[in-house]
Amino acid sequence: MKHNSKAFLVICLLIVSMLALSACSSTPNKAESGNDAAAADSGVVNLYTDRHYDTDEKLFQLFTKESGIKVNVVKGNSDELIERLAREGNNTEADLLITADAGRLHRAKAQGLLQPVTSEVLTNSIPANLRDQDNQWFGLTMRARVIVYAKDRVKPTDLSTYEDLTSPKWQGKVLVRPANSIYNQSLLASLIAINGEEQAKEWAAGIVANMAREPKGNDRDQAKAVVAGEGDIAIMNTYYIGKMLHSSAPEEVKVAEQVGVFFPNQDTTGTHINVSGVGLTKYAKNHKNAIKLMEFLASEKAQTQFAEANYEYPVNNNVEPSDLLKSWGDFKPQDISLTLLGEYNSKAVEIFNQVGWK
Ligand code: FE2
Repeated sequence: MKHNSKAFLVICLLIVSMLALSACSSTPNKAESGNDAAAADSGVVNLYTDRHYDTDEKLFQLFTKESGIKVNVVKGNSDELIERLAREGNNTEADLLITADAGRLHRAKAQGLLQPVTSEVLTNSIPANLRDQDNQWFGLTMRARVIVYAKDRVKPTDLSTYEDLTSPKWQGKVLVRPANSIYNQSLLASLIAINGEEQAKEWAAGIVANMAREPKGNDRDQAKAVVAGEGDIAIMNTYYIGKMLHSSAPEEVKVAEQVGVFFPNQDTTGTHINVSGVGLTKYAKNHKNAIKLMEFLASEKAQTQFAEANYEYPVNNNVEPSDLLKSWGDFKPQDISLTLLGEYNSKAVEIFNQVGWK
């Protein structure tokens, strides 16, 4: 009897522990396969983007129609989205991050927030210099950082290079936004890559010496200051001229009409270019769907509209830029990998500090 009850107890314990084990092992499996099923079957891709254009919504709708994959969009400020990704870690919902400037995309990569993507569609559609060397981010639209000048006071023949803006003839005439702008950091990073650190530092000091005023405002404010007569020339991204020409504020249209666009360094090292781009997040749950959307955005079909929404150049060489951009003429871009803009970012920030570019 004693033995029997002992045996009964052992059998009971065995059954209980087997049940517990199977419960333990089956719960996460179920959850996992549930997640996998969600990734494979629910057909969604979650996107963090700093863009907010109706055109994008239409493109996503077209993508959904063609692929059956729904695009969930979270819009926000570029730096905040990167901070959010970092904070969320592997709990993030985001599969893709779209943001402006190679310098900023590089920061996301350096913080371990992105992962490499192997896709022939992407590497065939996007030139090598416009994507990360490890394919952790891909340019989708391109902009140039140009010289904008007062048409009534400056002749295009007076202009030549970024370097020439440091010559005494431009003393008190150069307008440019503060050093904390990633656009300026990337411009200086490009000059470090092309001319070396010493020359880049001399250039930055020379610009500070020729500034019309202490740097303030955004790119558009520099064009406004040119037209207001505070200075004669401004360093600006091309798309802001497009935005101002199509602005609902009449005074912005007026400003844009009174300035000209000049592509510097055409006989030398080329005009500084940069991109807005996309990266697959490190913890993307909808991996395949995300890559499909990346490929769609790089496709000829999507590129025209995606670039034109922000008056930018398509990165896909098979796609023509808009008439406005064509009206400014062809230009020779800097011949460097945009990966370098990220790699020299901290050096650029250091130089700005050293030369007193506020
Ligand atoms: Fe911008």
